[in-house]
Amino acid sequence: VKSRHFKWDVEYMHWSPDGVEHIVMGINGQFPGPTIRARAGDTIHVELTNKLHTEGVVIHWHGIRQFGTPWADGTASISQCAINPGETFVYRFKADKAGTYFYHGHYGMQRSAGLYGSLIVEVAEGEKEPFQYDGEFNLLLSDWWHKSAHEQEVDLSSQPIRWVGEPQTLLINGRGQYNCSLAARFGNSSVSLCKLRGNEQFAPQILHVHPNKTYRLRIASSTSLASLNLAIGNHKMVVVEADGNYVQPLTVDNLDIYSGESYSVLFTTDQDPSKNYWISVSVRGREPQTPQGLTILNYYPTTVSRLPPSPPPVAPRWDDYEYSRAFSNKILALEGSPKPPAKHDRRIILLNTQNLIDGYTKWAINNISLVLPSTPYLGSIRYNISKAFDRNMPPDHFGHDYDIMNPAPNNNSMYGSGNANMLKPNNSDIHPWHLHGHDFWVLGHGEGKFTEKDEEKFNLKNPPLRNTAVVFPYGWTALRFVADNPGAWAFHCHIEPHLHMGMGVVFAEGVQQVKKIPNQALACGLTKKMFMMKDEHN
Ligand code: C2O
Ligand code: CU
Repeated sequence: VKSRHFKWDVEYMHWSPDGVEHIVMGINGQFPGPTIRARAGDTIHVELTNKLHTEGVVIHWHGIRQFGTPWADGTASISQCAINPGETFVYRFKADKAGTYFYHGHYGMQRSAGLYGSLIVEVAEGEKEPFQYDGEFNLLLSDWWHKSAHEQEVDLSSQPIRWVGEPQTLLINGRGQYNCSLAARFGNSSVSLCKLRGNEQFAPQILHVHPNKTYRLRIASSTSLASLNLAIGNHKMVVVEADGNYVQPLTVDNLDIYSGESYSVLFTTDQDPSKNYWISVSVRGREPQTPQGLTILNYYPTTVSRLPPSPPPVAPRWDDYEYSRAFSNKILALEGSPKPPAKHDRRIILLNTQNLIDGYTKWAINNISLVLPSTPYLGSIRYNISKAFDRNMPPDHFGHDYDIMNPAPNNNSMYGSGNANMLKPNNSDIHPWHLHGHDFWVLGHGEGKFTEKDEEKFNLKNPPLRNTAVVFPYGWTALRFVADNPGAWAFHCHIEPHLHMGMGVVFAEGVQQVKKIPNQALACGLTKKMFMMKDEHN
């Protein structure tokens, strides 16, 4: 067991993720940020200095449960105060479980601005994975806009709303192509073939493989909006890990991956070694207006520059939700995984709706749209600061007469019922919900309104443990988790514009049991005031 120390500077820098230069948020001059590698049981220390000129920053370690360190979860206004320009904050936490994770900004829309990177936890020394492989690769997927994250924030908060629209480019490890295409010669591209030397910031990262070997591909999606589908031309993949938990091996031709999810797949290089093959990433769940993200699987000894002879894999239709549901339902826990408790102690029913509040388009959960306070919840609840937020309990259910297929007659108020899913009738979206501080079991998905009867369909035998689960259009998803980690934890849609528009809740879990919170995490709002008063009295 080791301590792994990192010193990071976060700053804006000029960068060309897709061949068009913009500013991105980088760490130590890199985009995406540096990859953290650790072993299960290691302690990770990241000394993060905010080198931005005029805005705060925090970093969330997505998938790390932060047992006993809720203040290191990196959620602005929830677990800590944003780190001010020029200041340094030390994140110190345990990488307790092997798996494929990532980290990202969690203040405003800094994830859209490019603040993310990979976090890979290998099994502890002497431990073995339940599968074997000869080599591994890591792909961090994201989507990229030419409009800045600041402009997107203002657009979304305008009256009437200006939606962010579809991304310009899909990035694989921060690299994509906007003004050219690797697949131009197959005719479905309006731009010409990329002429690359390979050292450009937007040149694809090539995966070099040897024939007749098995490789592990780690895949995580940090997208701001897009739901993706990944395929390797001519190769099958075997899914073995989801969100840091082992799953029953599942052989697939392609894989759906939503924002906030991660997977490991194994593939065997059993194809003709005189060719190279596509690795493609396509948009699903929204009508695609973004070209596929592409890179190359390069077989030794074939030259890298030889492009695959056939077009990139075609993803399932964007609106084939049957396909998406079938894939999600096939992800099951590996035998021997922890099982969910058979019964619940408390049931919370959350209904996700789009509402118009004072003319602003917002998302609401049981009619309350998440607005983040200036004093982080962890500190204000721990120290009982009464004025930090509205102490009325939010509703843990919604009205029984709710018709999820149709907009409510009156949705023009804070407390009026919102509509099923969107303000337009017959319109619904996919929402990948992510829980901080825990993994949950995904007990089931269903269509229409959830009723008591649906409980009979729950999978209590081998449900997958995950930290992100999708709610399909007009559908419900049932999750179960054990509240065993005191803290203030966000539970929200991982689509960043949706979170910005209020699609989330905060669970206050046994906050009184939280041990001493480092002052550094509390140096804002009313908790800061509390310290200043104490000092005066000393
Ligand atoms: Cu990766 Cu709160 O999110
Ligand atoms: Cu959403």
